[in-house]
This record gives sequence, C-alpha cells and structure tokens, in this order.
Amino acid sequence: MVKRYAYSPLIDTGAVVRELPVSAGSPAPFTLENERFTLKMDETTRVYGLGETVRGVNKRGWIYESWCTDETFHSEEKRSLYGAHNFILVSGEVTFGAFFDLPGRITFDLGYTDSDLICITPERFSLDLYLITGDSLKDIVAQFRRLIGKSYLPPRWAFGFGQSRWGYVKEEDIRRCIDAYQKAHIPLDMLYLDIDYMDSFKDFTVNTERFPDLKAFAAEMKERGIRLIPIIDAAVKQEEGYPIYEEGRQKRYFCQDRDGRDFVVGVWPGKSLLPDFLNPEAARWFGSRYKALTDLGIEGFWNDMNEPALFYSEQGLHNAFSELKELDGKNLDIWSYFRTRNLMVNLQNSDEDYKLFYHQTPRGRFSHYDLHNLYGYHMTKSAYDALCELRDEPSLLFSRASYIGAHRYGGIWTGDNHTWWSHILLSLQQMPGLNMCGFLFSGSDIGGFAGNCTRDLLIRWMSFAVFTPLMRNHSAAGTRSQEAFAFGDTEVFRHIIELRYRLIPYLYGEFVKAVEDDAMFFRPLVFDYEEDAIAATVEDQLMVGDSLMIAPIYRQNADARHVYLPEAMTQVRMHQVDISTEELNKGWHYISVPLGDVVFFSRKPFPLAKAAENTAALDWDDVAYIG
Ligand code: NOJ
Repeated sequence: MVKRYAYSPLIDTGAVVRELPVSAGSPAPFTLENERFTLKMDETTRVYGLGETVRGVNKRGWIYESWCTDETFHSEEKRSLYGAHNFILVSGEVTFGAFFDLPGRITFDLGYTDSDLICITPERFSLDLYLITGDSLKDIVAQFRRLIGKSYLPPRWAFGFGQSRWGYVKEEDIRRCIDAYQKAHIPLDMLYLDIDYMDSFKDFTVNTERFPDLKAFAAEMKERGIRLIPIIDAAVKQEEGYPIYEEGRQKRYFCQDRDGRDFVVGVWPGKSLLPDFLNPEAARWFGSRYKALTDLGIEGFWNDMNEPALFYSEQGLHNAFSELKELDGKNLDIWSYFRTRNLMVNLQNSDEDYKLFYHQTPRGRFSHYDLHNLYGYHMTKSAYDALCELRDEPSLLFSRASYIGAHRYGGIWTGDNHTWWSHILLSLQQMPGLNMCGFLFSGSDIGGFAGNCTRDLLIRWMSFAVFTPLMRNHSAAGTRSQEAFAFGDTEVFRHIIELRYRLIPYLYGEFVKAVEDDAMFFRPLVFDYEEDAIAATVEDQLMVGDSLMIAPIYRQNADARHVYLPEAMTQVRMHQVDISTEELNKGWHYISVPLGDVVFFSRKPFPLAKAAENTAALDWDDVAYIG
C-alpha cells in the first residue's frame, strides 16, 4: 500500500507517475516535529536505498545529503555524489519504504548523530512524502517502482563491452584502439568519444581537423561492429556565431540571473551558459540538436557535467580575483594563506552560484537552488524525448547526474571513481540501491577513472563488471592506459570479456524481466532470503537476476575468499575457455579464485551462449543451460 502526504510541494518533480489522494494525519511510523521526520531504530533495523551513495548496502550509521554533486573523490566521508535518490527502505520492527519527493537538498541522518535514530531533514520543508508497506522487501520495492514508472530499456547491443578514455583525441587514436582489440579478438561493441571530439568543447560540433568526416568514420566503425558513442556536456560555450549559443540567447533558453541576464559560468570551453532544461521549450530545443550527430549515424550518447558542474561563475571569479589583488604582496599567516588558497578552490560547484540563477518552468520562475536536483534529470529527459523522435530504433543514453524519474529515460554511470580496490566493492554496493530507485542500466568506470590502473586490479574489476548492465572501461586524461590490451597479455582479458558475451542472453533477459516486473536486477542476499540472518549481513555478494549470485574478489593479492551460500548452489568457474561446475551445500565456503578465473554461483539453470566478437555476431539462440 502506498500513502501520500503532501507538505506544500513546490513543484511536481515528475518522479511519480501515479496520481494518489493525499492522506491526512501523521506520517507514521515517522514522527514529524520541527520539520524533521524521525524514527527510533532498534538494533535489528537496517536501512537500504538512497541510490548512488558511498559506503555499504545497509546505509545505517552514516549521514547522506541528496545534492547532485560533481564529486571527484568517492571516499567514505562524502555525503553526496552525482545522483539524488531519496528513497529508503527501512527493515526492522517496522518495515516500510519512504520516498521524499522534493527537488532541493535533504539530509538523511541514519544513525549518525544518534545511533538509534533516523532523522530526515529537508532543507526547505516543501515536499511530497510517499510511505509504502508490503509483504516483503521485494514487494515494497516493486510498489515503489510502479509509483515511479518503468525503467529505461537500452538497445540489446548496449550490453556489449565498451571502451572509453578521455584522451582519444583523434580518429587515429580510436582506429588504433579498435585495431588492437580486434587483432587480439577481444569482443567490443562501443567506443566512447570524450570531449576532445568537439570543436573547442562546443556541444553538437565536431573538430574536423581531428575527425575530418565523422559520418564516414562512424560508418567505417559500424562496418567493423563498433558504435561510436559521443559525450554531450550540459553547458554551452558563449561564442558569437556559434549557432547553439546564438539561438539559445535569442530565444532566452539559458538560465538567467535575477535581472534576466544570461548567467555565465565556466566549464570546459571557458565562459558558458546553462540550457534551462526545466523550461520544456528550451529542453525540446536542446534535444533537437542531437540531430547534428544522429544524422552522422550516431546511435547513443552519454550526458555529462549535468549536476550542473560549474568551475566558476563569472561573478564568483571576479570577486575572487578582486580579493586576490588585495592579498597580493601581503604577509600571509596560516589563516589568510588558507583563505587565499580556498578563494579559487571554493569557486567550484558553489551553493552561492546555484542561488544566483533561475529556471523558467511551466509553474513560473524558480531559483535553481530550490530545484537543483532536477537539472540532470531534465537534461536526460530532453535527450530521450528527442532521440525517440529522431530515431526509429532505441538509443543508448546515460547520464552522470540524476533524480528519481530520470530512470525512465536513461541509465547512469557512477562517475569519477578511482583506481582503488575499494572502488570495486563500492561499485558492487551501489548497484542494489540504484536498482531500488529504478536505475537498472548502470555500471562504474571499469579499472577506475582517476589514477593509474594495474593489471590485477583491471582483471578483478572486469570479473565483477561482466555482470553490470553497463560494462565500460573508462579513464581520465593523463592516466596510464588501461584498455584490455594495455598490459601486454591480452588472453586473460579476452576470456573475461568473452564470458560477458556468453552471458548476454541471460543478463539481457533478466534485465528485461526486471524492467517489466518493476524488480531489481541486482539484489542483496537478504532480499531473496529474508529469514536468513546471515544473508542480511553479507554485503559483498549480490543476486543477479533470478538464477545467479556473484561474490567477486575486490582485495589486492587475494586469490580466494569466503562466500556464503543461502541455499545449495552450483559453483560455476570460468578458467580460460573452460566452464566447470561443482555442487556446493548451503553455508560458508572458502573459494579459491586465482587471478583470471571468474567464479559465480547459480541456483537455477541459466543460458550460456557461444563467445562472439560483438553483439551482432552473437547467436542468442545457440545456448547451453548450465547449473
Ligand atoms: C567528467 C566525467 O565524469 C568523465 O567521465 C569525463 O571523462 C570527463 N568529465 C571529461 O569529459
């Protein structure tokens, strides 16, 4: 059962697709006092949800803030990442789900300040609250998902493996990369283009020195079984004569300051403007511009920097420089030195700037600050709506920033992680939270975005990512290469990626079922085995679809690990090209997983196809059932 409580919501966020009557009275089991929702926890209480966040699957014990943030360090002390996913699932003496639907900041103190207390505080007390009860954890999630509408279903080829790197600058870099993959017979379906394909980082342009004929190049790649997937950034370069800038300015489609002047921010191209995605006309206009690339044969996109990420605002930069001038020549003591240093650092993604510009919505003009968490969502929606019109086939689309509701229009990737072992585990632990909130098509930058990757880390990360719907290796400019051919011996990577392709009929089939049934593709064990007290404590294994369970290695130098089987299962081991199975009893096992082997578990038979070098060559019907 779903109950809705309305506390003067500012705006319809679009997250919810069902009309529900407003309930009167107190939002039990929460106590509402001083504009805060509180709930006493007993020692058995666990709290799931919150989508893209740091830390474990059970979120209890930390404090989170929903505020879409361009966060480059996904370390444990962080409170926000790129998404704002305000759904929690409390399991304990009382078990229920709660969705706090508001576009601004909200804090979830889940036993951080007082270890027995949940305390949820919207910064501005204007929201819809949905409380959901049901027969089981899965049932509550399914009801929530029905409330927010069906998840995005990508094309089948999007389940192939993709290679990306911020640093493939020109056609030749890409051709070399694809040659290396194909020479080593490592399966590949997508090659992602980062910002360098554009002319001076201008959206919907192509640098023709680097890509003289992108249409012909995309066709050549398609011929070789590879789709090019370009990035699109939220901010638009301010440059006279650049049609997107000129049109947007004339039609007043950019976010403006209080006095109606275009609000100028700094992102990759320098001075830029923010399309007002919350203005439906502006969103339609921006979306229509994807045509520049779909006309060249492009079939998918990734939308970036749409928290929106701001390096600075023109105003903020001016103020900082004025202060710096005054400080020039002074003897800086410790405090004034810190102040000086922070003048530049604090310019980035500053709340002060978010307060200075406005959106023209169908409900009137609103400060960006109050609607902040909806920006990336509406950029995704604008692209999705346009791509549905521009193309007859489904398109690949995923975004960095998101709010619940965006799950209907695209997937998300989990942003700028690091080449850290702990980020394999983080990625695993993010998946169920994301799935609860409808984001099924998701994955992390395999190998880590920032920092230098190592061969063993990449092997272990890939061995996990074989199971994530979005399987993409991506890294930052200036880091060491981490493609599947970068470490010399390609065999081990070929085997792992081949396993992915062999599993695609299963993974895609289960994904479609999860979309249709409003179910989770990735589930913590406790969702399937609610009565099993051990299952509830296992945070580094996941159920994948109906048949499989994974328990990846995420520690350096480990070549074995403990695995908990909540029932008797078949252990499936991939060793090079061999697949072997072994029946195991319910309970704890110590499983050896030498580097390069992939081990997972099945509780029901699952289909395994023959290896293929891309999804077009995959025979979906020629499968053998294992387990
Ligand atoms: C930030 C994104 O998170 C990252 O994936 C991308 O490579 C850079 N922007 C450059 O476009």
